[in-house]
Amino acid sequence: MKTIKLLTTALVVSLFLSACHSNTSDETTKDDYMSNEDTSATTSNTDAKKGIIQKDWGTTDGKQVHLFTLTNANGVQVSISDYGGTITSFIAPDKNGNKQSIVLGFNNLDGYLAKPPYFGATIGRYGNRIANGKFTLNGQTYTLATNDGKNHLHGGTKGFDKVVWTAGAINANNPQLSLSYLSKDGEEGYPGNLNTTVTFTLTDDNSLRIDYHATTDKATPINLTNHSYFNLSGDVSNTILNDWLMIDADRYTPVDSTLIPTGQLAPVKGTPFDFTTPHQIGERIAQVPGGYDHNFVLNKKDSSFTLAAAVTDSSSGRKLEVYTTQPGIQFYTGNFLNGSIKTDGGQPINQHTAFCLETQHFPNSPNTPAFPSSILQPGQTYHYVTEYKVSTVK
Ligand code: GLA
Repeated sequence: MKTIKLLTTALVVSLFLSACHSNTSDETTKDDYMSNEDTSATTSNTDAKKGIIQKDWGTTDGKQVHLFTLTNANGVQVSISDYGGTITSFIAPDKNGNKQSIVLGFNNLDGYLAKPPYFGATIGRYGNRIANGKFTLNGQTYTLATNDGKNHLHGGTKGFDKVVWTAGAINANNPQLSLSYLSKDGEEGYPGNLNTTVTFTLTDDNSLRIDYHATTDKATPINLTNHSYFNLSGDVSNTILNDWLMIDADRYTPVDSTLIPTGQLAPVKGTPFDFTTPHQIGERIAQVPGGYDHNFVLNKKDSSFTLAAAVTDSSSGRKLEVYTTQPGIQFYTGNFLNGSIKTDGGQPINQHTAFCLETQHFPNSPNTPAFPSSILQPGQTYHYVTEYKVSTVK
């Protein structure tokens, strides 16, 4: 029995988002296990006990990389690597209790070293774009790495998603992981030594809570976020176009042809951006050239912790809620996914087979004084919280 359970857990973890297998628990066979032996090497929590376990996960930049698996009292599991602070899997039950990963991810470090577009990564020093890779602060103009045409995107050429973070001490019984990274003065063009800590906590109400902390010794823009791509069906052969989405935002920030906000805060009412009541993602997507890739202005006046967005996939019954203290959220419908990247199971990851909901300050804020400030000053502590909560509906 114990062996079956062990093999089952191995299989479930190794098969996330693989369409070739839909069986999860009792139907697991030895053949299933054997055929996935390579990738199941990344399986970590073999007895699904509440807590955290750690394993070696390869090396890069001459540093040892690890994979941590957090399990809560209900058997929900989140795996996170210190490479890029990357969420590699988020295993949650569907309405029938079948567990699958609801995020795009790989079982091996190599999948990430091949530079997928930020799958699951912690993004920094600045999430999303800074126009022309330039900004002026305290009278000085800074030039950043440009890695998205003429713009700076997601921290530059080697952002926080491509470095090895340092894990803090773990307590085997507590599904919590802290990762720290010192971004040196001048890295990717940014001013100041920025000390960052991101803490992931998997709660027993099935929330993945992420606390972001940072301090600096020179004023700097900062906009940390997580870039998980969700497919609530757990299977990328399904697009996300039938998912029902609510975003608590009466306004959004329209963009130019290079996806830089124009500076306007435009009302969503009467547009395809109105998700104040739930709409299917695909209902009006054809009216949005390229698909959704926009920042929404959350309906709040302060940094209170509120429900920003909720998504339901009727077929699996899975629901995701996103809570945050941030003023904005980037809704991105995987527009640039084109099948060239494949899951571990060999399945192409096509356009609109995943969505991102990235909690954030607005893109290009360092050049847009009317937007909430994204500047961290020496002596201040940057702290914000986002929670990704999973549940099921019938
Ligand atoms: C963000 C951006 C998108 C795209 C993806 C990564 O969500 O807003 O334009 O760059 O990251 O491909």
